[in-house]
Amino acid sequence: MNMNMNMKPVRVGLLGIGTVGGGTYQVLARNHGEITRRAGRPIEIVMVADKDLARAREVTGGRTQITDDAFAVVNDPDIDVIVELIGGCTVARELVLKALNNGKHVVTANKALIATHGNAIFAAASKRGVMVGFEAAVAGGIPIIKVMREALTANRIQWLAGIINGTCNFILTEMRNHGRDFKAALADAQQRGYAEADPTFDIEGVDAAHKLTILAALAFGIPLQFDKVHVEGITQVAREDVAYAGALGYRVKLLGLARRRPEGIEMRVHPTLIPETRLIANVDGVMNAVVVRGDAVGPLLFYGAGAGAQPTASAVVADLVDVARSMSARPEHRVPHLAFQPDAVADVPILPVDKIESAYYLRITALDRPGVLADISRILADRDISIEAIRQPEPAEGQQQVPVIILTQRVMEQSINEAIKHLESLQSVQGPIVRLRVETLA
Ligand code: HSE
Repeated sequence: MNMNMNMKPVRVGLLGIGTVGGGTYQVLARNHGEITRRAGRPIEIVMVADKDLARAREVTGGRTQITDDAFAVVNDPDIDVIVELIGGCTVARELVLKALNNGKHVVTANKALIATHGNAIFAAASKRGVMVGFEAAVAGGIPIIKVMREALTANRIQWLAGIINGTCNFILTEMRNHGRDFKAALADAQQRGYAEADPTFDIEGVDAAHKLTILAALAFGIPLQFDKVHVEGITQVAREDVAYAGALGYRVKLLGLARRRPEGIEMRVHPTLIPETRLIANVDGVMNAVVVRGDAVGPLLFYGAGAGAQPTASAVVADLVDVARSMSARPEHRVPHLAFQPDAVADVPILPVDKIESAYYLRITALDRPGVLADISRILADRDISIEAIRQPEPAEGQQQVPVIILTQRVMEQSINEAIKHLESLQSVQGPIVRLRVETLA
């Protein structure tokens, strides 16, 4: 045995032994030998805190000390690293800050916490010379944080786009493959245990926006700015739009997109039409994927399980190994939390949504009479909006209204909104116009 294997173990306190905590406990136990060989020293969970002591007892099988007092764990001087798997931004935030102030390293899967309080958390960690690992916070088992922080450091990142919420991707996939409406697909996602009982954060795009906030900071060397992400969920996506998009050769996905433009950075989460020829458009069900485009490497695609006990545990344990490997390194020799050195973080403006550039899908309900298409195209032409494709399905016998589907070329959002306002004022246009963004990811 290598001498390192006899080194003092890294002593871990685990806060929360639910799905991911249980997976972490099992992966560490099952792969203990391999993990020790990689880390250079054993990694041992020495204390578990969970409000549900029966659950903690069942998972640990009496092999680990358990408590229902998480603060006792973060205050225990014998613990080196805290793994926070409680979630949310109240108690979890207090515990993480306490652990850091006590000089302990922290590993967390808490995307909401990092996205909304990460700047303060990293500052507290730097002050005490300790590390915060958050690989599990974005896209579950996909090691995208590691990639952004370490593998792409040669590149100027131009944009990244991700399917980073498995629940929404499952729902949209069901709507496309089985022609189901949103509500039916959501009920199915809940029944299968993908969506939470309260799935608001998933379906309203908030979960994806937390993850996008983190990825954008890593990509562009900007502070975490969750409040500047433009967020739209999938609750308004209609079954017919998924079908019309399909007929035009597009898939509808909830996309998190961060793009560098000369004027600033776009950060947005919304339902998006993507050409079906793109690999990422074919990521279905609960799977996640992230495309990153660097100026040197070109586009890269990362695909894998974005949630689940063992995939997420894979990311948590990888962070623990990183901590074990670099605990004894001087803080300035460690990889910076947000990829860029803290004093080199740039204050680039985040563009408001009316200044973003996108192509658009419009579904206009129009009266079936001569001159309507001419009126519509004139309004678009007057604002320099170029039409990429137009479809008007043949009306059924006796039908007075027809859907007119238009794909535009890229234009500033402000212009399309003005055009929509004019189009909706036409007598021949009935009701509100459906507008979805289109990204070719070219
Ligand atoms: N609720 C998330 C999703 C999983 O549906 O992708 C964990 O981030």
